[in-house]
Amino acid sequence: MSKKEKIILDVDTGHDDAIAVLVAAKAEKIDLRGITVVSGNQTLPKTLKNTLSICDFAKIDAPVYAGMDRPLVREQVTAPDIHGESGLGGPTFPAPAKTAEDKQAVDFIIEEALNSEGELILVPTGPLTNIATAFNLKPKIKEKIKKIVLMGGAYGLGNITPSAEFNIYVDPEAAQVVFDSQIPLVMTGLDLTHQAKATQKIINRISELDNRIADLSVELIEFFRQTYKNTFGFDSPPLHDPCAVAKVIDEDVFSTKEMRVDIELNSQLNRGRTVCDFYNRTKKEPNAEVAINLNKEKFWNIVIKSLSKY
Ligand code: RIB
Ligand code: CA
Repeated sequence: MSKKEKIILDVDTGHDDAIAVLVAAKAEKIDLRGITVVSGNQTLPKTLKNTLSICDFAKIDAPVYAGMDRPLVREQVTAPDIHGESGLGGPTFPAPAKTAEDKQAVDFIIEEALNSEGELILVPTGPLTNIATAFNLKPKIKEKIKKIVLMGGAYGLGNITPSAEFNIYVDPEAAQVVFDSQIPLVMTGLDLTHQAKATQKIINRISELDNRIADLSVELIEFFRQTYKNTFGFDSPPLHDPCAVAKVIDEDVFSTKEMRVDIELNSQLNRGRTVCDFYNRTKKEPNAEVAINLNKEKFWNIVIKSLSKY
């Protein structure tokens, strides 16, 4: 088996983050060093509780760390219309026995990077506040991080606004810090994740696994399906965050195109847009590999392989 990749998964647990945690925790290719939590889909107390509940229910022993509870400078924005008031609408969980570590998530990211000798991959699937704060507090960790594989952005349509994707919109200043970090970066945007729709056929494949985590995943997807239908008219919900995890597991799960990506900070209308220079019109140095085409068969096999191991 090829060498495991050391990752920190940085989440704002909601439905797709939850499935990303479940996929990462059982992937042979991944050494899940820790899960850091940020405010995003819901407030930090809720995203933290949701993350602990998922880890508790799935008996995932990776340490969980509470991070930043608000964006660097902007007002907090949450997504109850998509993830519900709890941030993980649908299934109910008993109060989690698992507790967060005492260490702040940002301190954990810094420490893990300093100790990792250039082997650490950061996989953020929420607003980039924790990551940017770690870079701002300890800039030298940037040379210690192998790669960032994030879910966020879009070169096409946005979702929280016509122009911007939620994770970037919530904390655009943090996103600019991350995209300016000069660390090899894969941007898994909506153009890619909207190819990862959990259709009824996929839901049936997951149901056939016939284990409690597969059943939980179906419950999460069913809630997500309803909110995506109501909000976007989608028949099936896109599983955004597992796409970023899948890229760490199998490089070939989706294609990418190198380009310059900048974040719109000043416009009211286009706040948080990832301005992707697809045709290299600015001649600026590329700073991201932007996700283009999903190998759906590979992707769903990765997801289902992990879920089958619970
Ligand atoms: O725009 C989709 C992203 O925003 C996903 O990561 C979802 O969980 C929310 O964080
Ligand atoms: Ca997320």
